[in-house]
Amino acid sequence: MVLIDPYGRKLTGLRMSVTSRCNLRCIYCHHEGEVSVGREISREMAVNVVNAASRLGIRSVKITGGEPLMRRDLEEMIAGFREVAPGVEISITTNGVYLKERAERLAAAGLSRANISLDSLDPDRYRRITGAKEGDLERVLDGIEAALVSGLKPVKLNMVVLKENECEIPGMIEFSRSNGVILQLIELLGDGPKGDLESVERRIEAQADGFLTREMHRRRKYFLDGAVVEIVRPMDNTEFCAHCTRLRVTSDGRLKPCLLRNDNLLEIKSTDPDEIERLILEVVRRREPFFRGANSDR
Ligand code: 5AD
Ligand code: SF4
Repeated sequence: MVLIDPYGRKLTGLRMSVTSRCNLRCIYCHHEGEVSVGREISREMAVNVVNAASRLGIRSVKITGGEPLMRRDLEEMIAGFREVAPGVEISITTNGVYLKERAERLAAAGLSRANISLDSLDPDRYRRITGAKEGDLERVLDGIEAALVSGLKPVKLNMVVLKENECEIPGMIEFSRSNGVILQLIELLGDGPKGDLESVERRIEAQADGFLTREMHRRRKYFLDGAVVEIVRPMDNTEFCAHCTRLRVTSDGRLKPCLLRNDNLLEIKSTDPDEIERLILEVVRRREPFFRGANSDR
């Protein structure tokens, strides 16, 4: 079974925000496109959503926040996902501050891959960008190591390219190469002091041994002497929407058809997987691309 939306896009992934709480205050944080939240999705509901989604053909679940590790029950939640949907691949996006202590248990529960935010290797700059406490950068670096040791694969680093950290890209490439992790260079979404990712990409392209283009969002992946660098550039990109295969679940338990819209969500009122299945079908019908082709009248 494969879900297909009215624009012919296959739905293969679920992106689930399990909390809006976070221990950091990144200057660029878009809070996953969520507006205000009160309650937090229950573990039972999260598990039942994954159950229903997997019956409808969803192959992967990405756990996001806020910061997912703010939840003490994340290991149990992941184990629950595994139980109801054994074939579904589970990944996480985390700031990594609390990963060191939990990577092993998360992996044992069924987590298979991790994206870890790392905008700087310089402690002062890291603190300026993320609002982190002293010592947090060290914890993140330990968290990256723990993720690798626990067998999470691949481990990807998320670096949002800002004016302030652009100069660190060569150092980040070297760090990724020597640690065997993939570096994702991400364009800043929304207003803010964004770096010049286009020039960065041109320089990387000139140095690269080669590149691949991923189906999803037409992202390019460059290979540089053992390092792997992916460029994530969503804005003004009709391709971004044309290849979107994800359905979102908000931290307060609503189905969200599009990151960039807040007017077409559907509240999950029931924990019954059959009812949730019906809601997923309804929300998939509501999906439409935010960015369309050049001739569209959006
Ligand atoms: N622009 C781009 N990426 C963002 N993230 C959060 N806010 C933004 C934004 N405004 C991404 C970062 C971070 C992850 C949690 O979400 O990649 O690592
Ligand atoms: Fe936002 Fe993630 Fe930074 Fe937390 S770590 S403030 S959720 S971008």
